[in-house]
Formats: sequence, structure tokens, C-alpha cells
Amino acid sequence: MRQAIRFAVPLVAVLGLLAWGASILVSTTSRRWFDEDVDLRARLAVRGTREGLTGHWRQGDRDALRRILESITRDERIMAAAVCGPALATVAATPEYPERLGCEDIGAEARAGLGEGGAGAASWHHDVLLRGGRVRVNALPILAEAGPPGLVILVHDMSFADRREATTTWFMVLAFALMAVLAALMTVLAARVSWLSWTEELRRFLRGTPPRREFHPVLGDVRDLIARLAAESRAAGGPGAWTPERLRRTLRERLHGERVIVVANREPYIHDRDRDGGVRVLHPASGLVTAIEPVMRACSGVWIAHGSGSADRDAADGRGRLRVPPGEESYVLRRVWLSPEEERGYYYGFANEGLWPLCHIAHARPIFRNEDWVHYRDVNGRFAAAVAEEAEGPDPIILMQDYHFSLAPRLVRDRLPRATILTFWHTPWPNAEQFGICPWHKEILQGMLGSSIVGFHTQQHCNNFLAAVDQYLEARIDREHRAVIQHGRTTLVRAYPISIEWPNSWALKAPPVAECRASVLAELGLPPDALLGVGVDRLDYTKGIEERLLSIERLLERFPQLVGRFTFAELAAPSRTAIPRYQELDRNVVRLEERINARFSRGTYRPVILRREHHEPPAVFRYYRAADVCYVSSLHDGMNLVAKEFVAARDDERGALVLSCFTGAARELTEALIVNPYDLEQASSALASALAMSAEEQRARMSSMRLLLSEFNVYRWAGQILVDAARLRQHERLSGRLAEHVRQVDGAPA
Ligand code: F6P
Repeated sequence: MRQAIRFAVPLVAVLGLLAWGASILVSTTSRRWFDEDVDLRARLAVRGTREGLTGHWRQGDRDALRRILESITRDERIMAAAVCGPALATVAATPEYPERLGCEDIGAEARAGLGEGGAGAASWHHDVLLRGGRVRVNALPILAEAGPPGLVILVHDMSFADRREATTTWFMVLAFALMAVLAALMTVLAARVSWLSWTEELRRFLRGTPPRREFHPVLGDVRDLIARLAAESRAAGGPGAWTPERLRRTLRERLHGERVIVVANREPYIHDRDRDGGVRVLHPASGLVTAIEPVMRACSGVWIAHGSGSADRDAADGRGRLRVPPGEESYVLRRVWLSPEEERGYYYGFANEGLWPLCHIAHARPIFRNEDWVHYRDVNGRFAAAVAEEAEGPDPIILMQDYHFSLAPRLVRDRLPRATILTFWHTPWPNAEQFGICPWHKEILQGMLGSSIVGFHTQQHCNNFLAAVDQYLEARIDREHRAVIQHGRTTLVRAYPISIEWPNSWALKAPPVAECRASVLAELGLPPDALLGVGVDRLDYTKGIEERLLSIERLLERFPQLVGRFTFAELAAPSRTAIPRYQELDRNVVRLEERINARFSRGTYRPVILRREHHEPPAVFRYYRAADVCYVSSLHDGMNLVAKEFVAARDDERGALVLSCFTGAARELTEALIVNPYDLEQASSALASALAMSAEEQRARMSSMRLLLSEFNVYRWAGQILVDAARLRQHERLSGRLAEHVRQVDGAPA
């Protein structure tokens, strides 16, 4: 249709030009015809009365001459007539004969004209304007026996010709305009009909009716495309949105089970003893938990995690097991107990002082200690043993999570060779050179290749991983299938951008936006018209919290009108507090907050409100819903689910997201204001734009991001991994059967 319109517009323009040219042609032609017609009438009129005229002239009967002239002017087009004598004096004239055209003037001109026309010239004419209208003056010679002839002058009213000419031109333009419109309509109609016939062909083809021959090449391509899409869709369990139910079905139908075993250091529910001896259940600030917990609720199974809460032991049974979520029990949490030394070496040491800075470009130096490595290896072994205990059969489905467990996949494989081990790395993966800094880089790669699938958020991280395998191990890389083959075993390496549950249960449970805003502003001591920004993070140096505060400082320097109006609330959950680098970050952030507040405070107004404490999801969602802007300023982040949660929280389609380009989320949430958090000018400009953004623009950006997240939710993330795992499992079974068959044939007696 668009094509047809594109064709119709120039067509109308060309027809317009043609109409203009044609109207000029028609008007000159019709004018010539009218002029010729008038001249002819004049000649006929004079010819018919010539005898009478000459007779009365000779007799000098002026009255009779006038009567003849009056009879000539009975013709409705002839306004007036006169007879001029040879000396160009008026001999006779009708009463209305115009003075301006007296014989002395017009006669001389006419005689000259008749002379130029040659002796035989029958008439002379000339157009003049009279009382605003065009008139034609015709002069015809009479009485030319000797000396100069007398002249009969006829004055014609030409206004009728002009009127007709205008009418003809107008009709002509109208006709062309109609033609143009009709032609355009025909074009659009023809395009539509041909599209319909094309789609009809497609339908015929889909119904199995043989299409016409000219469609064969195109339909061949369409057939391939449909087959490919259908195969993809079948593989993914059919079209439509991913839901908990669909995820369960996929697991049941394609992997013959509903139960998965998740291995993740962080537990989804922490039982913590508070100061007055009571126990509270905390939801930890963790992107991993945000993503995996809804998947577990959908699939059921066991989550094996470090029991880190001060009241965790009391809440679990003798084997460290309990059913969760509290009040909606749908899966088992299996807690693994670690000694303080183990926790220090495995979690704080190797995982968070070694691998964490190794994987992030955030300018923290990785620290690798041998004793940490020993603990890390042992704890991985303990978790692998827990997996073997929890497995109900020889081929369980295990979702291994993150950099805490890079060795566990191989250790589980050794115990359960037929297990489907799906390892997901939640942080970035560094380039091969950087990865080589780790003294145990080969062991880590070997450990991960115990997996059936290794997943990352982005293709870039997959490429880095494959490059490291290529550089440091003896293994074949199958780039076409994005896989590593070692000792006959295949590990797929794929990108699966993680997401959040959708519809989001925390957003659904949150109070209305107006209520959230009112309560948050009251809590912060801000007036109702305050402009509010929020940041939500673990207090981690990769999150760019210092850069965030610096850009707020810059914002207030550049836009002083915001001082007193704009407040930024940072909800920072203390994290990994035993590590010196985190303690240093904590001090830096507090210092920055104090400096900015000292510079810009007015009365009770403080531009930065820093809340360094744990916030439960309902409080976080209240802040998301109250904010005008959310700023995610990570210096490097695998995905960052805070950005996605903010979008999920805004069912009112308001609020603006300023997002670091160094997050995985920036590749998907392209309607956010994407910034380089190191560039304080750019970041402060983006914050200013976000605060000034119109409601329509907020809505347009937010609705588009929400649409994306509704489609690309965490069920889809898990579903895609499971579908790939099912395919791999089937492939391994078939190739296993084939190998068995070959063995039997080889061993059979001839
Ligand atoms: O980003 C890596 C990660 O493990 C996340 O998956 C998780 O959100 C976060 O770190 C939690 O850190 P921790 O468990 O050390 O508090």
C-alpha cells in the first residue's frame, strides 16, 4: 500500500502539470476560434447589407444608412456600427457607438492595417479594452471605385468569448483533477488487488493448492522461511508469550520432568535474627535471586545455597532443608553450611576479591590467594556432593549459577555423567588476556566445560569465553554450532539475556502510584512538587555509585534552578562488607554525599539522601513508582535487573530511565537515555532531559520498554535454555545409540 501511495503522488503531480499545459493550449485555441468566428460574422453582416449601404451612401441618406447599421447591430454580439467616409469622417453611426472609437482615430489605424494586408485584404481587426471588457473592432472597406475606400466599422462584444474561455479552462482543470484522483485511486486499488491476489496465492499455497507458475520462485523462498520459523517455533514449544505454565510444560514435555536443581551461592530467603531476638525473612538484594526465584516457583525442585542468615539453621531441618516461599511453599531450599574460614576463602576471597574484579572492568585489582583457591575448590566439591544427594535419578536437570561455581559442573559431571548441567554466568566474561591473569584459569575453564550449556548475557561474553578456551585448552571449537568439543563431549556456548518475571508480582502488589509517591515524599520530607531521582543497588564499586553522585553534583552546578527542587534518593544495600575495597567504597560514597549536601543544602533541603541499609522489595518498588527518574550508572554489568524492575514498576507508563551503556540491559532497553557514566557532562545532561521530559515522551518510551519486557521475560530466558538442553540431550542420546550400535556390529561374529 505504501508503495502504491508512493506511486500515486508523483502521478497526481504529473497530471497536474499536464492539466496546466492543456488549459493553456485550450484557452489559446478557443480564443482563436472565437476571433475567427467574429471576423466571419462581421464579413457576412457587411456583405449582406453592402448593396443598401452603398446605395444610401451615394444618395447621401444618412438616416437610411443608420437604419441599416442598426439592423446589423441586432446581432447580439455586435454592439455598435459606424460608416466612415473616405476622409475618415463619421457618416453614420448607431446611437451607442463609442466615442473613443471615432472614425478619425480608428479609421486611420484600420486603413493602415488594411493597406498592410495587401490590396485584397477583406477586413482588419483590433482588440481594445472598453469599460473593463474586451471588444473587437472590425473594419471592412466599401465604396472603393476611386480614391480611398470608405469603411464600415463593427464593434463586437468579446466578453462572451472570455467567459467561455475561462469556463472551458476551469472545466479542463477540473477534468484533469478528476482524472488524477481517479488514476491515483486506480493505482492504489490495483496495488491492493495485486497484494490480495498475492496473499491469495500464499493462502492457496498454504492450503496445498498449486499456485500459479509466476509465483513459484517467490513461494519457494516463502516455503523455506515458513518451514524454518515453524521449526524454531516448534522447538521453542510453540508461539505466544512465555508464562510459568508454559515453562512447566516445556520441562515436562521436552525434558521429562518438572523438577530442577538450582545451585547458587545466594539463597532466596534469609532467616535473620534481629536485635530483640525475633526472626525475620529477608529477600536479598540480588539480580540472580530476582531472576531465578520465579523460575523455581514455576518449575519446583531444589535450590541449593549457602545458608548465610543468622537464624537459618533454626528454620531448616537436620539436612538443612525447608520448603519455601514462606506461606506459598512450592519448592525446597537446601542450605549448605560453611565455616567462617570457608566463607572467607571461597566467597569473600576467591569469588569476590579474585573473580569478581577479574570479570568487571571497574579498575579494582583482582587478588588471588592460594588458600582462597583451596577453599573455593573444596566448597565447589561440597555443593557438587549436595547436588548428587538431591538428584532423584541419573539424569537430573541442574541450573548452575554464577562465578561462585566454576568448578562444580565438572565435579557434578564426574558423579552424574548423564546430568544436564546448564551453567549461567551472571557477570561479564573478560577477554582472554585478562582472564589469563587468574593463576587457575585452566582449571576454571575445564570445570565449566563439564556443563552441557554455558550461558552468558551477551554474545560478546560468549566470544570472550570461546577465545579463552581456544587460547588455554586443547579443545575443538565448533563456531557454526557455537560449541566446544572436548574428549567427545559437547558444551554449547550461548547468549541468553536474563530478565525478570512478567507480570511482575512486586509491581502487582504495590499500592497505586499516587499513593507510593505521596508516602515516599512524606518519608523523605519533600514537598509534593519535588523532583525525585532514585538509585537502587548493592553497595558495589561496579555500580558506579560515586560517578552517579558526581553527575548529580554536576547537574546542580549546571542547572541551579534545580537546587531546592531535585532530590536523589540512593537505596544502597551493604554488600560484601568484609572486603576492604567495599569498605573503601562505603567511605567514599558517604564523603561524596556529605560534600554535595554541604554545597547545595538550603534550609531543610538536601539534594542527596543516602540510605545505606537493606530494603525489602515492597519498599524498593514504592521508590521506583514514586520517582521521576531512575539512574543506573554501572561501570560494567552483565545485565542489571534494577533497570528492568524500574520499567516493570511503572504500569502508569511514567518516569524516565537513565541507563549506563556498560550494562547488558542497555542493549535491550534502547528507549532509556543511554549514557557513559564516566562522562559527567553527558550524564548530567541526560538527567536534566529526563527531569524535563514531557508526559507523552515518557509514556512512549516506557510503553515500548514494557512491551519488550512482557515478551522477553525470565520464563522465556529459562525456556530457551531448557529447549536448547532438550535438543542437546536428544542429540546425545541418538549419537550414544549409534555408538552402541557400531560397537555391537564391530563385536558381532562374522
Ligand atoms: O552479579 C553477580 C551476582 O552474583 C548477581 O548475580 C547477584 O545479584 C549479586 O552478584 C549478588 O551478590 P552477593 O550474592 O555477593 O550479595
